[in-house]
Amino acid sequence: MERDVVIFDTTLRDGEQAPGNSMTPEEKLRLARQLDVLGVDVIETGFPAASDGDFRGVRGVAQEVRRPVIAALARCHERDIDLAGEALRPAERSRVHVFIATSDIHLQHKLRIDKDECLERARASVRRARQFTNDVEFSAEDASRSDLDFLCRIVEAAIQEGATTINLPDTVGYAMPSEYGAMFRRVRERVPNSDKVVFSAHCHDDLGLAVANSLAAIDAGAGQVECTVNGIGERAGNAALEEIVMAGHVRPQAVAFRCRINTREIFRTSQLLSHVTGAFPQPNKAVVGRNAFAHEAGIHQHGVMQNGLTYEIIRPETVGVPRSTLVLGKHSGRHALERRYRELGYELDEPTLEWLYREFTSLADRKQEILDEDLLALLHESFHDAPESYQLTYLKVLCGTVSATADVTLTGPWMRERSLSGTGNGPIAAAFAAISSIVERQIEVLNLSLQSVTPGRDSVGHVFLQVRIDGKTLTGHGASTDVVEASARAMVHALNKANFADRLEDKSLNNVYLWGV
Ligand code: KIV
Ligand code: ZN
Repeated sequence: MERDVVIFDTTLRDGEQAPGNSMTPEEKLRLARQLDVLGVDVIETGFPAASDGDFRGVRGVAQEVRRPVIAALARCHERDIDLAGEALRPAERSRVHVFIATSDIHLQHKLRIDKDECLERARASVRRARQFTNDVEFSAEDASRSDLDFLCRIVEAAIQEGATTINLPDTVGYAMPSEYGAMFRRVRERVPNSDKVVFSAHCHDDLGLAVANSLAAIDAGAGQVECTVNGIGERAGNAALEEIVMAGHVRPQAVAFRCRINTREIFRTSQLLSHVTGAFPQPNKAVVGRNAFAHEAGIHQHGVMQNGLTYEIIRPETVGVPRSTLVLGKHSGRHALERRYRELGYELDEPTLEWLYREFTSLADRKQEILDEDLLALLHESFHDAPESYQLTYLKVLCGTVSATADVTLTGPWMRERSLSGTGNGPIAAAFAAISSIVERQIEVLNLSLQSVTPGRDSVGHVFLQVRIDGKTLTGHGASTDVVEASARAMVHALNKANFADRLEDKSLNNVYLWGV
């Protein structure tokens, strides 16, 4: 019999915790809006006690996104819980998620406390969290490696104090599906009042079993799964939302659960996340990878042409994958552009359309065939998640067998046009050196990756950059048919975000420290 399962998305918290995935509060808000459209039930938005930025990220989503439950994480510490409760205050529906480790190895070596103290902290924390909201989740971190008797005792205590969801994570991705399912069955059988709460699965992918374990937990009665878009997360990542959802969609007899996810929004959500973090799923990633629907072998292609179901268990349109079609060219007008975006599911406001049309015509000068993917790349470029303190107005590079030099001009509302030259061991390094001299900031490039948006020689290259600017780690992205220009644009984007973050921090100091007064 089909049961409803709550989809708890932790892309903005556990997903963000992985190196290179850090997001600004504005980026979190953009993703949270899309997660709302996707139809997730709960959005875990961050860990407010971790940093000022995390507090603002949770606050921003709590203020703006009204339908899903907005959750925030807290250790079993009073300050953590108070900050989570405070950050969630504007939410229509909020959940405080408290956690403490319960395995012997974590108790002895990480927390250095005994089981009785762990139990007391859990009790006190659930009680405190209940002062902020009736919706409290308790997680027994490393549950799958915990002593079952103790696990049952602590779950019973959390329920007595008013926890409404009990999460039993496979924190280090150690469990086998049969073991993980058995743990849920035993705890649910042994703990009094277990039928009054929702049990939740939270799996990591260290052995590649996160999705299998989540499905085993659903089979064993879990009513919630915690997952992330593209499976991003600590180490090998978390269970991938799209894989769990599509397993239920494609095999309802085998995995009997219902959820509210609009599968047609899956690809769009995956792409948005990749553009924000700069990390695209590996090409063969199930459901959202670049090759997930590509059929190379002739015999497969023939079969799919006769009847898609021969080799295709998911139709690309079911998850919103656009068919690559030749859509627009040099002579297409503003209306055609607007209509195509509408067909792709985007309603554009006037300034965005204006900006896009300008970029589109300049791209059409350099590229004959403009495909849907190009339009989507331009659209992601158009989200100015930070005001444009700088704009790149000129770039010229000279490179070859000599050391490279670049001439760059930046303008912006707070500065007159400034032009400087830079040198480097390649054209991108030279352009970065020139930009760094113009803005007079210390910039360290941590990572640069290039993604070609469409096939072909005149393809648009999308550059994703991770940089440290005056000690702050930020991402930036830029697109162009020229990779040096795309890199320079990505750098300018990161600098704009750094400026914006500086200004917000000045303001937020007041917000964060005044709330307790
Ligand atoms: O993996 C884990 O145990 C967690 C908890 C904080 C829920 O992320
Ligand atoms: Zn986790």
